[in-house]
Amino acid sequence: MPHKPLSDAAQKKLLHEAQKVMKRAHAPYSNFHVGSAILLTNGKIFSGCNVENASYGMTNCAERTAIFSAVAALGPKIEIRAVAVANDHGVPCSPCGACRQVIYEFGPDATIFFEGKTGPAQAHITELLPEGFRLK
Ligand code: THU
Repeated sequence: MPHKPLSDAAQKKLLHEAQKVMKRAHAPYSNFHVGSAILLTNGKIFSGCNVENASYGMTNCAERTAIFSAVAALGPKIEIRAVAVANDHGVPCSPCGACRQVIYEFGPDATIFFEGKTGPAQAHITELLPEGFRLK
């Protein structure tokens, strides 16, 4: 069954958590600090920031940091209800392609809150990632 819309208060809290964790980013190469918070269907929130590396390709985005932290804490049965993304430049920033696929793995019905082209935006994961890949 599709999730019901997230309340304004729940959205605000999730974005606030994303903004808080953004300050912990390790982003000396891009200087672009990103924070993400995920709400699970059990009501728990996990957050993560981007962690860059001198070998640039090793960089982990904020969204994947948050998701991997949740799996590490609770195991692989987590279900993502919503994801919020914040950045310190106030510019459009939706999850990258790799993160969309990882969100889809644990949240095929997740809603994503992010900074869009004209301000705060939200989208269903399948709008951001049509035809997401699944094994089975
Ligand atoms: N980044 C994220 O963490 N999440 C996004 O949604 C977009 C990009 C990071 C990766 C890299 O550390 C920096 O932002 C610049 O691309």
